[in-house]
Amino acid sequence: METVKVLHMNKGVGETSYVMNSTLQSKIIDVTNPATKKAIVEILCSSRPVRMGIADLGCSSGPNTLRVISEIVDVVHATSRVLDCPVPELVVHLNDLFTNDFNTVFDSLPSFYKTQRQEKGNGFGSTCFVSAVPGSFYGRLFPNKGLHFVHSSSSLHWLSQAPLGLKDGWGRGLNKGKIYISKSSPQCVLDAYLRQFQNDFSLFLKSRSQEVVAGGRMVLSFMGRQSMDPTTLPTYWELLAHALMSMVSEGLVEEEKVNSFDVPYYAPCIEELKLEIEKEGSFMVISHEAYEIDWGAGMELQSDSTSRGELVARTIRAVAESILEFHFGSHIIDEVFRRYAKLVEEQLSILNLVISLVKRD
Ligand SMILES: C[S@@+](CC[C@H](N)C(=O)[O-])C[C@H]1O[C@@H](n2cnc3c(N)ncnc32)[C@H](O)[C@@H]1O
Repeated sequence: METVKVLHMNKGVGETSYVMNSTLQSKIIDVTNPATKKAIVEILCSSRPVRMGIADLGCSSGPNTLRVISEIVDVVHATSRVLDCPVPELVVHLNDLFTNDFNTVFDSLPSFYKTQRQEKGNGFGSTCFVSAVPGSFYGRLFPNKGLHFVHSSSSLHWLSQAPLGLKDGWGRGLNKGKIYISKSSPQCVLDAYLRQFQNDFSLFLKSRSQEVVAGGRMVLSFMGRQSMDPTTLPTYWELLAHALMSMVSEGLVEEEKVNSFDVPYYAPCIEELKLEIEKEGSFMVISHEAYEIDWGAGMELQSDSTSRGELVARTIRAVAESILEFHFGSHIIDEVFRRYAKLVEEQLSILNLVISLVKRD
């Protein structure tokens, strides 16, 4: 399964949309914010560019998209005031896959520009110019040396495709009863996932190395794990596999359909990231942190009648429905997430990694 052809966050503003179910990703932006601010301040202090290229990779469409940009603009203005230097022109590129709901992002731009003009305008208009760049971040997106800052939140754990080689000689799935790495997965499944991550992440770094100026920064934040062993903790994919297998046991889903479904996702540990960064050689790690995030905390405030499990299930549905529908068909979606909501009621903690990088000269 090629992610670029299938994956998109649930569109619109309905109950199962990404717009209505991105509180978790918003919390992740909160924990990433200090690293983002630090990177912007350091860029301005070290090079004082007159024009600053900024890219948000995997921007999606929803309340988080322009929030990240607003916060970056605020820091640029505040820092320029402190340094007593002119505010640079900000050339902002919002990137996501071709199927992303960019129209909704464009609809919110007039009010974004209005706020910018009111709060920071010089009377002649905004100093911030936003455009969309559709395409996969696993490859070139921008011209040479045009970016000073790259931000990406809750996106890089998506692989470019499900790992290859997860079928036996008869074309049957090898990761039986599972949809991601799990304790019962054979070693070849772990190896295939790691290989796919290594290929993708090194291509990501190689592409950005052409696009980011020397001294430019990247702040990348995504799902990860603490341990070197990828099977130590059950993930939310494990619980989704349970929900699917419970439907198999009732004859509602074919077992081979589950065996042959592999999520194009990988949660790396920091050592795996550092190894790829060192191998590629263009960037240096400035800092990294791991945050355990209690997924359900605060979510129940959104609604009186909806359980934590249902709210977590909606979060996963908003991001994963497109790939599940592609493989299993739309008829199973309501039922699988109804079952999933019961399973996730108790297990709600996830790990988020934030890594800050600088481009070498
Ligand atoms: C969970 S959303 C995160 C959106 C936003 N950054 C936030 O924090 O709310 C992940 C986004 O990454 C995008 N994505 C996944 N793989 C991608 C790729 N190879 N290139 C560009 N975008 C990608 C998805 O389409 C999706 O919109």
